[in-house]
Amino acid sequence: MDLGLEGKVVLATGGSDGLGRALCHELVAEGAKVAFCGRDPERLDSVAEALAAAGGDVLAVRADVTEPEDLSRFVDAAAEKWGRIDGLVNNAGTAAAMPLAETLDADWDADLQLKVYGAVRLIRFALPHLRQSGGAIVNTLAIGAKTPGGGSAPSSVSRAAGMALTKVLSKEFGSDRIRVNAVLIGLIESGQWERRASAEGLTVGEFYERLAQGSGIPMDRVGRAQEYADLVTYLLSSRSSYVTGTAINLDGGLCAVV
Ligand SMILES: NC(=O)c1ccc[n+]([C@@H]2O[C@H](COP(=O)([O-])OP(=O)(O)OC[C@H]3O[C@@H](n4cnc5c(N)ncnc54)[C@H](OP(=O)(O)O)[C@@H]3O)[C@@H](O)[C@H]2O)c1
Repeated sequence: MDLGLEGKVVLATGGSDGLGRALCHELVAEGAKVAFCGRDPERLDSVAEALAAAGGDVLAVRADVTEPEDLSRFVDAAAEKWGRIDGLVNNAGTAAAMPLAETLDADWDADLQLKVYGAVRLIRFALPHLRQSGGAIVNTLAIGAKTPGGGSAPSSVSRAAGMALTKVLSKEFGSDRIRVNAVLIGLIESGQWERRASAEGLTVGEFYERLAQGSGIPMDRVGRAQEYADLVTYLLSSRSSYVTGTAINLDGGLCAVV
């Protein structure tokens, strides 16, 4: 199936590890030009090298999504290099979950800056370009947005805000031909889990097996980063041209609601 992504320009935050890195590889394989960001310059360089070796036309930008100036620079760099932006993926993030009584205002501020303000600002900066191209936005969230558990704040609250933002913008931008969707992750193999495995002295395989068993995932395994990349690539492509305002669970059946 031709996804129509050849020559399209896609921006992805958090492309230097985990799900974002897998997405950048898939987009390059589909012929898209990819700008991605992260904070660690060494990881950015190493992913940029691998993508270029795979034939990708890519741009790695050191940018922290909690810094408005960094986001503005990220958008400008891609627009300057390629003259257009067709897709935007808000992916950078990390889990922050604790009992409410233990949270400080600083925890809430940090999570909202990372997961809500970061996405809002990046969309605002990229909007003039997306209006010209009739582009697509994908917000990477977590199933906690639909089914928050006790002790899951501030993450699940930020993710619910991301889901509301997705719906609001799908209505606001529909007449601009801009589609806005969200992907709600359950548990998927990525850098954050590899670091957790190593901290606990487990192999990655042992860690994922324990994670799958402990979480009761109906499909009996954690997801693969490629499975995320496939879904997001589809949502960015013209093959999903009538799909907007949805929040799709990517979780092997883990979420209790559709
Ligand atoms: N994997 C899962 O099971 C799972 C579950 C639920 C939700 N999610 C969500 O899926 C997204 C991807 O997660 P992942 O599992 O792939 O994580 P990961 O392996 O830790 O990768 C995170 C990426 O985001 C970047 N990043 C983190 N903070 C950033 C910041 N402030 N500014 C710019 N870049 C930043 C990281 O690079 P630097 O550290 O160098 O900046 C890295 O490239 C996140 O939003 C996460 O919350 C994942």
